[in-house]
Amino acid sequence: MNKPLKQHLIDPEICIRCYTCEMTCPVGAIVHDDSNVVVDAAKCDFCMDCIPVCPTGSIDEWRVVNTPYSLDEQFSWSDLPAQEDIGASTGLEALDDAMEALLAEAHQGAGGKSRAPASASKPTVNLYTLGKPATARVQGNYRLTSAESGSDVRHIILDFGGQPMPVLEGQSIGIIPPGTDADGKPHLPRLYSVSSPRDGERPNYNNLSLTVKREENGLCSNHVCDLAIGDEVQVTGPFGATFLMPQDPEARLLLVCTGTGSAPFRGFTMRRQRAAMAGADMVMFFGARTPDSLPYFGPLNKVPDRVLKKHLVFSRIPGAPKEYVQDRMMVEQETIAEMLADPRTHIFICGLRGMEQGVELAFRNIAESTGLPWETTRDAMRDDGRYHVETY
Ligand code: A2P
Repeated sequence: MNKPLKQHLIDPEICIRCYTCEMTCPVGAIVHDDSNVVVDAAKCDFCMDCIPVCPTGSIDEWRVVNTPYSLDEQFSWSDLPAQEDIGASTGLEALDDAMEALLAEAHQGAGGKSRAPASASKPTVNLYTLGKPATARVQGNYRLTSAESGSDVRHIILDFGGQPMPVLEGQSIGIIPPGTDADGKPHLPRLYSVSSPRDGERPNYNNLSLTVKREENGLCSNHVCDLAIGDEVQVTGPFGATFLMPQDPEARLLLVCTGTGSAPFRGFTMRRQRAAMAGADMVMFFGARTPDSLPYFGPLNKVPDRVLKKHLVFSRIPGAPKEYVQDRMMVEQETIAEMLADPRTHIFICGLRGMEQGVELAFRNIAESTGLPWETTRDAMRDDGRYHVETY
């Protein structure tokens, strides 16, 4: 009889195909085909280097198996198989304990897993793949930031014509840059959050918008920022099954973002406005260098406070002290403390990876000043689908 072993797997339903794990794995155990990113059981040595870099937690899946799932089996999955009852199949009850121990060991050190809000709509994922991308046509490319700001952020509108592209607020799509890499292979897609709501940038048109910042030497961001109206773009996705908006109109949203991290929150805000959920509470902390480098500064200021309470904070206004989102959160700690104690509250954090630590510290200070232990509160919210982080 084979000795049961633990196998590292990736949840294809949650994976956003950013390929970060594949690029991180030091032993080349993570590979992809046109549809899925998978782990080769013969190569994985459980070093765990891929676990913290995964933005979704889809990497943190483990099964105890008698025979490891092959690469081909994993490539064919659209969701993960359940844990088999190995103890029962072998008639050995003692195996249950061995399995528990193997699974517990696999989870050691891994972060908590993100869950979708209980009331979120069911997302469609991976409809278009590397092998079978959708072709979108550019309908608009508008600069959102001033030339003087030194930051080139674009509002890009893509039309999908007759091809279905069902995206929910908070989901991303992949854009495949044209051409090939140094090895002559096609480029991997780069991910962008959708910044329009589910019914389209224009209501009931089959289009969507992205918010893209031009990065120096950025292969894909330069391609996207240079697109002209009428150009064709190869698209994969949609991706993302946890960073989704609750549909419960009573849900209170606490949104924290920097720069283009505001993209999903534009979608959230427009959804609530269009679906007339305007009575619900939404509070946003949004950090940028200056007003003219804050994407959607004008339109955002027109959103009434009863829909969205905005705290726009700036780090580089000449003559003014530098302010980060976490600084303003401390100023508004009474509001945040009250929201943290309310089981209807959902927290969404999106933007620079660097802000995560400062924002968590602010949450910790605020929670603990009111006697709420932060880690327990955060983990309970995460388990409940009410704590979501997407940083890059
Ligand atoms: P700064 O760059 O002045 O330090 P960007 O324009 O690069 O997209 O950044 C958006 C905003 O996020 C800027 O105001 C930037 O400030 C700010 N920022 C940079 N690092 C952090 C951090 N660790 N925590 C919070 N905000 C940050």
